[in-house]
Amino acid sequence: PRPILLTRHGESLDNVRGRIGGDTVISDAGELYAKKLANFVEKRLKSERAASIWTSTLQRTILTASPIVGFPKIQWRALDEINAGVCDGMTYEDIKKNMPEEYEARKKDKLRYRYPRGESYLDVIQRLEPVIIELERQRGPVVVISHQAVLRALYAYFADRPLQEIPHIEVPLHTIIEIQMGVSGVQEKRYKLMD
Ligand code: F6P
Repeated sequence: PRPILLTRHGESLDNVRGRIGGDTVISDAGELYAKKLANFVEKRLKSERAASIWTSTLQRTILTASPIVGFPKIQWRALDEINAGVCDGMTYEDIKKNMPEEYEARKKDKLRYRYPRGESYLDVIQRLEPVIIELERQRGPVVVISHQAVLRALYAYFADRPLQEIPHIEVPLHTIIEIQMGVSGVQEKRYKLMD
């Protein structure tokens, strides 16, 4: 059995301000999570050869991976967060106030809604295909450090959740979702390392 560990990056400065998208660094709490995660990974994957750490190309995931030593790290653009296009850097309140039609359209159909000059959940699901193929090919465990929308899609694939649910799946910060694929199906454990 070869676990896949899914986690969001440690809290970012944009998370603190409630802004979507962006490419900020992690907060003090985020850095603490990065250390706890490194500890967890080193213990959990101690005797595992062929383990690897996958991040997006955004600073907040790379910084979250940085205290983890002893395993190869790979950056994937396909693991970057959903592109919010013209709304990148805004809060949900900003969007509601300044672009009420966009806000309503997303609320109505969050799966299909595409941000102007950005992406929809369906776009994200599609660009994850090569990542999923590569994940299934791996011989060793993989730690995937990515973002909320992307992890919803990845999790739904492994946990076999319906498409419509994907944009609403809970993937909290500072929590590791461990997925084990065995003969009797998929097993899941969640480790909340901090609040
Ligand atoms: O707020 C963090 C974040 O990762 C944003 O960067 C992103 O736009 C959002 O979550 C995705 O979640 P939702 O689809 O619920 O807006």
